[in-house]
Amino acid sequence: MKKIVVLGSINVDTILNIPRLPLPGETMAMGDQSTAGGGKGANQAIAAVRGGAETTFIAKVGQDHAADFMLETFKKDGLNMDHITVDSKAGTGKAYILLDKDGQNSILIYGGANQTITVDDVESARDSIANADCLVSEFETPLEATVRAFEIAKQNGVITILNPAPAKTDIPQKLLTLTDIIVPNETEAEAITGIKVVDKKSIINSAAKLNKMGVKRVIITIGSRGSLYYTDGKESFVDAYKVSAVDTTAAGDTFIGYLAAKLDSDLDNMVEAMKFASKASSIAVQVKGAQNSIPYVDDVKI
Ligand code: RIB
Repeated sequence: MKKIVVLGSINVDTILNIPRLPLPGETMAMGDQSTAGGGKGANQAIAAVRGGAETTFIAKVGQDHAADFMLETFKKDGLNMDHITVDSKAGTGKAYILLDKDGQNSILIYGGANQTITVDDVESARDSIANADCLVSEFETPLEATVRAFEIAKQNGVITILNPAPAKTDIPQKLLTLTDIIVPNETEAEAITGIKVVDKKSIINSAAKLNKMGVKRVIITIGSRGSLYYTDGKESFVDAYKVSAVDTTAAGDTFIGYLAAKLDSDLDNMVEAMKFASKASSIAVQVKGAQNSIPYVDDVKI
């Protein structure tokens, strides 16, 4: 069985259903609200374990009810929680998701315990990282911890996948050099490369620039238009499955977790793994909420 390690965030998501984003100074009535498990790291870890991989999650929670709620889900899913630690001062991470009637979202984050993950926490998980097939991380936890985890991974021949989200303009060159596969969406790709992604040509240009910046393999996800894989001057497009989306929250996380779970160690099956990830993601967008929308491998058929 494939072994995945995810280093990342845990958030309790409060989803606020609104007709559209409010204007500055506007007071607006909203529809119902609900709570669900979220956090980019947690979503990616759950997607990897539901995708069929043995998955270890390096993360931090507060000492509160939100932590109990989140850990219960992880336990049910069979995530390895040996490296989820507790910070006694900061609260468990939270996200407030404004979800409009077309299924598009805007997200506000309270980092809390996610921001207290240290290089020492990563060192404590050294053996798990070194023995994994693949390490996944994003930007909702401190950068120095991610850099250390990627260093350990590369010293041990472990594949590294970086999801540069939330968008960042100043990714250290060291981290890019340690990254085997970078998976931004079009907004994140634009933040890194400065190239506005509007059509096929600009997507390819953006991927080529990421390539030149030091990452050999680039996947740019472009929502309902699918995803692009770019390496060594060659591109392949994978179409998205046509579905009616009600909530795109965690669509990208589902894609990444499933991609990691399906990739062979020689990375030769990249396009096939992307198709699988895309199918999983197309299922996730048809259900409201983050973790509750991530499908199980038996329901993902291409
Ligand atoms: O990628 C979606 C996630 O982003 C949500 O679950 C929310 O918690 C934020 O971290």
